[in-house]
Amino acid sequence: MRALLIGDVVGQEGCAHVRRVLPGLRKLYMPDVVIANGENAAEGNGLLPASAQHLRDSGVDIITSGNHILRRREIYDLLEEGDYVLRPANLHPSAPGRGVLVYDGLRFRVAVVNLLGAAFLEPVDNPFDCVDRLLEQLDCKFIIVDFHAEATAEKLSLGFYLDGRVSLVVGTHTHVQTADERILPGGTGYITDLGMCGCFNSVLGVRPELAIRRMRTHLPTRFENASGGQCLSGLVADFDDATGKAVRLERINVF
Ligand code: FE2
Repeated sequence: MRALLIGDVVGQEGCAHVRRVLPGLRKLYMPDVVIANGENAAEGNGLLPASAQHLRDSGVDIITSGNHILRRREIYDLLEEGDYVLRPANLHPSAPGRGVLVYDGLRFRVAVVNLLGAAFLEPVDNPFDCVDRLLEQLDCKFIIVDFHAEATAEKLSLGFYLDGRVSLVVGTHTHVQTADERILPGGTGYITDLGMCGCFNSVLGVRPELAIRRMRTHLPTRFENASGGQCLSGLVADFDDATGKAVRLERINVF
């Protein structure tokens, strides 16, 4: 089984870049499932139904998310339908939607789990305990976890915690791809952060001068996405069809 994963897609230009390059990536890599984090796909954060549909039409099978997903009420119906848009599983139980689904591909069933980190973000249910409960109920050989989190140590800790129990743990949220992809001792693939699909000359997708202004002055500053050359960052992961364990990881950056 082969999965293609794309980091946080930022704004309309990020969505347009996915449309531009993903059909070619699908032809080149022939993935069984394509997963993208879409929580910044709408301009000004969050996800709108139109951006979700755009990503799906571009070849994304499953959209994961994170701390911004409940920002736009318009997405709540799609979350409730639970067909292809996930919110973190460890949000409050009253939040719309769910954090796990099983994707029925042509050749394989792949469970996708979305979790939110507890460090340096809004308080959530403990992601370690939450994923334990989810795994008890999941009967699937291939399990991919998108851990949307800020802290490198929390992401690595969850990777080792799930080693041998899931196929792959990928981090999202920091928008900067890490060069630490590896197969953990128990056979779980891991990367601390996939990176983003957004403007390369930006601060996490935002116009640098606005980020600088906020950092320098601490005055309220409305962020706007940067415009210009885009880069899609992500990972191609291969798994043993018999065991579900990771066998090969390849980071990708497509300008
Ligand atoms: Fe985020």
